[in-house]
Amino acid sequence: MIRWRILPYGFALAGCTGIQSALEPHGPHAAQISILWWIMLGGAGAILILVVAATTSALFSAPSRRRWLGRETIVVAGGLVFPIVVLTLLLAYGLAATRSAGSALPAGEPLRIAVIGEQWWWRVVYLNTSPRIETANEIRIPTGRPIELTLSTADVIHSFWVPHLAGKLDMIPGRTTTLHLSASRPGTSRGQCAEYCGGAHALMSFHVVAIPADDFETWWRRESSLPLPPTDPVAQRGEALFLSSGCGACHTVRGTGADGRIGPDLTHVGNRISIGAAVLPNDTAALARWIADNQHIKPENRMPPFRIFDDGELAALATYLAGLN
Ligand code: CUA
Repeated sequence: MIRWRILPYGFALAGCTGIQSALEPHGPHAAQISILWWIMLGGAGAILILVVAATTSALFSAPSRRRWLGRETIVVAGGLVFPIVVLTLLLAYGLAATRSAGSALPAGEPLRIAVIGEQWWWRVVYLNTSPRIETANEIRIPTGRPIELTLSTADVIHSFWVPHLAGKLDMIPGRTTTLHLSASRPGTSRGQCAEYCGGAHALMSFHVVAIPADDFETWWRRESSLPLPPTDPVAQRGEALFLSSGCGACHTVRGTGADGRIGPDLTHVGNRISIGAAVLPNDTAALARWIADNQHIKPENRMPPFRIFDDGELAALATYLAGLN
């Protein structure tokens, strides 16, 4: 019978796993945070039971027990000494855990990646590569290697948070902060801006894709190279439209004339999981929708809606972009 009674709690906890859960750590940094979370849940649960028991006793128990509960020593011990001791221990443990998270990272030369928060997307630049690899809203990392993320912002305060891998860290105007993390197993994790940064704050997400070192090398080589010119006539028409309609003023596609720096680099956009900072899947329908209707999808983002294109032109543009891989 007991088994059935605990079923709802099991379902409730099932909500604690998933692509953006801090309780399903994929790396040593997040594992420390997860342990801290469970300790705090256990401690808070025990304290809650204690307080409810004391309150019930104070209301309904015999007068002698109530007098005992009302003694000054009980009030000082329970209301002053106990919280000071518990919070001090928790602070010490939290500080030690934060420090040991760094030492738990694998040894070796870190892969350095700059992540710049912009309203409302993430610019991602691989720093120790030549040519420079720039992507957006998706960070590929090799498993088992230390990753050093330098975090900054192009406008307002954002906060970088990928719960599978590490705690959150603010991106503050005029400053660069550094976050060290590592993925101990392959998998896709979702991150989210964790500081209110304007209207579309909730639509500022991203993915971190951890892959084995060999796969990462393959990905790296492909990202470093120029995209192949389109051979399909529809995609060729899309490329011509892209280059003649001013898209290159804001976007870069290496190897073409497009070298804009305002919006995301689209050189290998076809390889990404999502578009629009994880608000839409990456397929031709979504790409066409984004071009024509992005202000409905992400209000006040810096890209104007391009209603100048008819359906055929939108399909051509989307086919060209989807083929950039
Ligand atoms: Cu960026 Cu919230």
